Amino acid sequence: MTDVILLNAQQRTVIDFNKNWKFFLGDGNNAISLNYDDAKWRMLNLPHDWSIEDRFSDTNPATTQGGALPGGIGWYRKTFTLPASAKNKNISIEFDGIYRNSEVWINEYYLGKRPNGYISFQYDLTPYIKGCPEKNIIAVKVDNSQQPNSRWYTGSGIYRNIRLVITNSIAAIAHWGTFITTLEVNKKQARFNITTTIISSIKGEKSLSVYTDIYDAAGKLISKGTSNFNSTISFTGNKVLHTDSHIIFSPKLWSVDRPYLYKAVTKIASNGKVIDETTTNFGIRYFHFNKDKGFFLNGKSLKIHGVCLHHDLGALGAAFNVSAAKRQLKILKEMGCNAIRTAHNPPAPELLDLCDEMGFLVIDEAFDMWKKKKTKYDYSLDFEEWHKQDLRDMVMRDRNHPSVFMWSIGNEIREQFDTTGIEITNELVTIIKAMDSTRPVTAGLSEWNPEKNFIYKSGALDIVGLNYHHEVYKYFPKYFPGQKFIGTENVSALATRSSYNFPSDSSYHWPERSPQRFVEKGNADYTVSAYDQVSAYWGSTHEETWKIIKKYDYLSGLFVWSGFDYLGEPTPYPWPARSSYFGIVDLAGFPKDVYYMYQSEWTTKPVLHIFPHWNWQPGQLVDIWAYYNNADEVELFLNGKSLGVRKKLNDDLHVMWQVTFQAGTLRAVSRMNGKTILTREIKTAGRPAKIELIADRKIIKADGKDLSFITVKILDNNGNLNAGKAWHW
Ligand code: GAL
Repeated sequence: MTDVILLNAQQRTVIDFNKNWKFFLGDGNNAISLNYDDAKWRMLNLPHDWSIEDRFSDTNPATTQGGALPGGIGWYRKTFTLPASAKNKNISIEFDGIYRNSEVWINEYYLGKRPNGYISFQYDLTPYIKGCPEKNIIAVKVDNSQQPNSRWYTGSGIYRNIRLVITNSIAAIAHWGTFITTLEVNKKQARFNITTTIISSIKGEKSLSVYTDIYDAAGKLISKGTSNFNSTISFTGNKVLHTDSHIIFSPKLWSVDRPYLYKAVTKIASNGKVIDETTTNFGIRYFHFNKDKGFFLNGKSLKIHGVCLHHDLGALGAAFNVSAAKRQLKILKEMGCNAIRTAHNPPAPELLDLCDEMGFLVIDEAFDMWKKKKTKYDYSLDFEEWHKQDLRDMVMRDRNHPSVFMWSIGNEIREQFDTTGIEITNELVTIIKAMDSTRPVTAGLSEWNPEKNFIYKSGALDIVGLNYHHEVYKYFPKYFPGQKFIGTENVSALATRSSYNFPSDSSYHWPERSPQRFVEKGNADYTVSAYDQVSAYWGSTHEETWKIIKKYDYLSGLFVWSGFDYLGEPTPYPWPARSSYFGIVDLAGFPKDVYYMYQSEWTTKPVLHIFPHWNWQPGQLVDIWAYYNNADEVELFLNGKSLGVRKKLNDDLHVMWQVTFQAGTLRAVSRMNGKTILTREIKTAGRPAKIELIADRKIIKADGKDLSFITVKILDNNGNLNAGKAWHW
């Protein structure tokens, strides 16, 4: 099948290039050749992750840490023809991410290699492309055969989007070619610059004008750009910079509650005709960290309620999908989450667009390792050769997003433990600052002792990011005098949704200590209690860490490990466990109970959540917990009889009753000054009688990409959920 492409006459054409690729799993020898016969290869649309299509097995070398799925080598090929109107145009291809070791050829010409599986890049195809009516063949080899290479599930293949970009050869806006920097913001006005990089494949003088106009969210033109090149531009090399300055009066500031976005439309015109145009969404906001008072966004104190997220989307694997990512963010937003750390790599670009639109702050993270490895074949093998380019590309791609407020140069990097950390930290921070001096740089440090942490000792970090060790946080001002704090990674509590161990008021570590990897005396069915009572030894329960972060102003916030469960890293169990237990929300997107603890603390909407379910054995002693807010007490009733009133005292985050099970109805009522705020009921379920299907979105686009998630509920005759019960027929 050959794709035929239609062109926008004058300006750039950006083509969704995901459709109709041929795919072969294995080493397709000579698949770069024009005559190669790919008729038997599978036809598919990208984004694509071949690992998730295969079987879980404990023999896969990725191990359960990597999700127990196979890696391997895969080939993709696509045949396309350009229209006659593409003659003399520049053609490039943009890849948002390929895991990993991608190599790309066009018509047998080698374009290059990118080992890093999370980085976005583009290639210029112009010198090698054939005009209409000839066929062009792009071949991509992806090599994820060296395993293990990650501590979590990565996916394999072209798992993010691809675009073909066709521009004018006279002049065009470069790839990632606009950079917006705010110079001054206050209530009255915002002053900012937009620098545009213009490229041309034709050397010499040209008569061009270049300008950027600013539109508000309603599409109204509010500031016109002025071209200082309305006569001639001289291309001596192939690049020229142009800066436009703007003032917006009474700017609408971007914030997590009101993520207001402006549009910058950059144009190049030649003889009065626009020959190129790009749009950059941006927000106007300012922020700072204060060593005593924490974080401030637009002059207002804001506690950072963050979570760490890996890039997989549960059952969809790593294949990026905007609807699925948006659903994750929506679930987190409703919990009161206002920040995401992209653990431990740059995300799909659309995730940052969503964070811009939905109001999340983002720590954009570059690496999980530098030269010292964490798994046998990981990026440490490529760090030396590639880190400069990968880091630059991350910053170049992401530096216009208002959501991105910090760069992280790495997570729990082993070089923190010796002096080699100093030099590399300095180098990486210098690279970032050269590209973007407007955002602070941090790192997720697991060594909390400042004397022993050489990344910290480099003095190059703007903000000290600590992973875990909540017990030392209150001494932060003493240990790190004058420094600013962020909890880059916290908690690592474990839970399986709808699984409960008694007694619920004793907490424990699974695993208990290093070097124990797996818990031997866990639950036979490999579940972990969801009462927020279990954590890995390096972490804490959710309540323990949040209580401390909440208490001290200088602790600007935290990033809970993790927002969602993810594939891989099934601590505390060995095979057949293969996905994580750390999520506040499970792999399918269902909140675990502790979600409501955060919601009661992080939002102002009224919350009352009681758990567990009410399907137990007669006479069994069951602990009932309630998370609530906006109320001073909660009363619990069993079949109409009061079991007493409970109030959160001191810094409590939940209340509890111990109840002898009796089938029927549990009812909780939260009250403020005697007035009922919320009522919740849970009932004992009878035999399953019906299945209810609930679509989260009733209308979706018929574009082959949009998704609706369907919740399946097993209910008894009266509509009660059969939670926690196994029925046999
Ligand atoms: C951290 C690490 C994360 C994840 C987490 C699990 O130390 O940074 O990537 O492995 O532990 O608790």
